[in-house]
Amino acid sequence: MVGCKCLMPIMAIPIALVWFWAAKLMKEPSMPAYNESWWGPGEPRYIDDKIRPFEISVSDEILKDLKYRLEHTLPLQPALKGTKHTYGINTNLLQKVLHFWKNEYNWTEREAYLNQFPQFLVNIQGLDIHFIHVKPKVPKSIKVLPLLILHGWVGSVREMYEIIPKLTTPKQGKNFVFEVIVPSLPGFAFSDGAAKKGMGSFNSSVVMKNLMKRLGFERFYVQGTDWGASIVQAMSVMYPDKVIAMHSNMCIVNMFKGYVTNLIYAFYPTFLLDEEELKSAHMYTQSIDLSVWFYRIEETGYFHLQATKPDSLGVALRDSPIGLAAYLLEKFITLTKASYRGIDDGRLEETYGMTALIDNIMLYWITGSITTSMRIYAEHWSSEFPGNFDVDGISIQVPAGCARFEHDIVFYPKAVLKVKYPNLIHASFYEAGHFPALEVPDVLVDDIFEFFDKVMKL
Ligand SMILES: *[C@@H]1O[C@H](CO)[C@@H](O)[C@H](O)[C@H]1NC(C)=O
Ligand SMILES: *[C@@H]1O[C@H](CO)[C@@H](O)[C@H](O)[C@H]1NC(C)=O
Ligand SMILES: *[C@@H]1O[C@H](CO)[C@@H](O)[C@H](O)[C@H]1NC(C)=O
Repeated sequence: MVGCKCLMPIMAIPIALVWFWAAKLMKEPSMPAYNESWWGPGEPRYIDDKIRPFEISVSDEILKDLKYRLEHTLPLQPALKGTKHTYGINTNLLQKVLHFWKNEYNWTEREAYLNQFPQFLVNIQGLDIHFIHVKPKVPKSIKVLPLLILHGWVGSVREMYEIIPKLTTPKQGKNFVFEVIVPSLPGFAFSDGAAKKGMGSFNSSVVMKNLMKRLGFERFYVQGTDWGASIVQAMSVMYPDKVIAMHSNMCIVNMFKGYVTNLIYAFYPTFLLDEEELKSAHMYTQSIDLSVWFYRIEETGYFHLQATKPDSLGVALRDSPIGLAAYLLEKFITLTKASYRGIDDGRLEETYGMTALIDNIMLYWITGSITTSMRIYAEHWSSEFPGNFDVDGISIQVPAGCARFEHDIVFYPKAVLKVKYPNLIHASFYEAGHFPALEVPDVLVDDIFEFFDKVMKL
């Protein structure tokens, strides 16, 4: 070794730089300033914000047009041998879906099913927002908790139809029950899409907060999945005085300190995992597993496309019901369990039932909302709206509960969750995929009750 003494001061420079940057990255951003914007077309103007009862009622014209398009579907390209669902949805399966949709799916019945809960429209910041609102009928001794439940992309309010009755019916041994408010996110199904740029999870949070305010809830509880999870997280950061507690079945940690913690445990699982988590340690080491990264790259092309060119893609999907079905159903295969890509029927019927899946596609089709729904990716991930990232980077102080599903897109041990949720009072682990409300409704409902039981005892 030569000149080791003179190397010392030289080494100090990069160390200081790394230290400086690490400290900067570890620091939480401050809450972005904002004004409550007008999202409707044109200039802000007065709009009656009366709450209007709403029922789904599709015109004969739309139904006839759909029937025509389904019947005139151009021949589907035969899938290559052995590809199953890895090149996108397999057209052998899609052919069966088409047959079912044309011949067995009965809209008259499904419309009645979809109208089983009271639904409303109300204008918030220039947008008509659609929501389901179910109040439980219970004796005074049972406490009623107002719970805002938010769906995500590729989903819709339809995801929640199995859990709504279970959450609004008293559960044995629990002295509380939920009054649920289940809106369509801005741009989804019967909720208007924004007429200008910027409706990421930050600005969606403002709209959802104002919806709750309009309904008379100054303080309330939130639950979310997928984009809905992103929005309930943002609401918990932005409105800690309104959100009493949050539950999510897709807790997301987009914080530098979270990444660092993630890396530490991935190399040294025993360092941060508790006893229970060690049993499924393989789940937590994914961040350093290259095959997992390759898998993610393979399956997230849609994300990049929707975050950059949602409108081009939207034209095609808006014009073809079977094209829309192909695009949406593929996600229900892959995001439920990676290995379902290798199974002929993708386990769709077995896991969800084709009827429920077509219901969900119908909500996009009859409202023509696929383009506006996909825009949330572009609005959220645009560098033009850094406030979305800032809010992601701020920790949540309200009591939080995370239901973790083994085959979901993200998955963290408690040590990482606690970076984002210092007040984490509940973290559970289940074997299901990205759509638990549809796949395992009882598991999700039990978990929500369990979490709120803990909240009630705080
Ligand atoms: C909010 O509106 C006020 C008054 O119109 C303006 O001065 C301020 O810059 C706006 N803030 C943001 C973050 O847009
Ligand atoms: C659809 O369901 C309705 C209500 O149950 C029924 O009257 C109608 O005949 C059904 N249509 C078809 C094509 O089966
Ligand atoms: C929210 O919307 C407003 C109005 O379009 C925009 O100025 C602001 O940057 C948006 N904020 C974020 C974080 O997207």
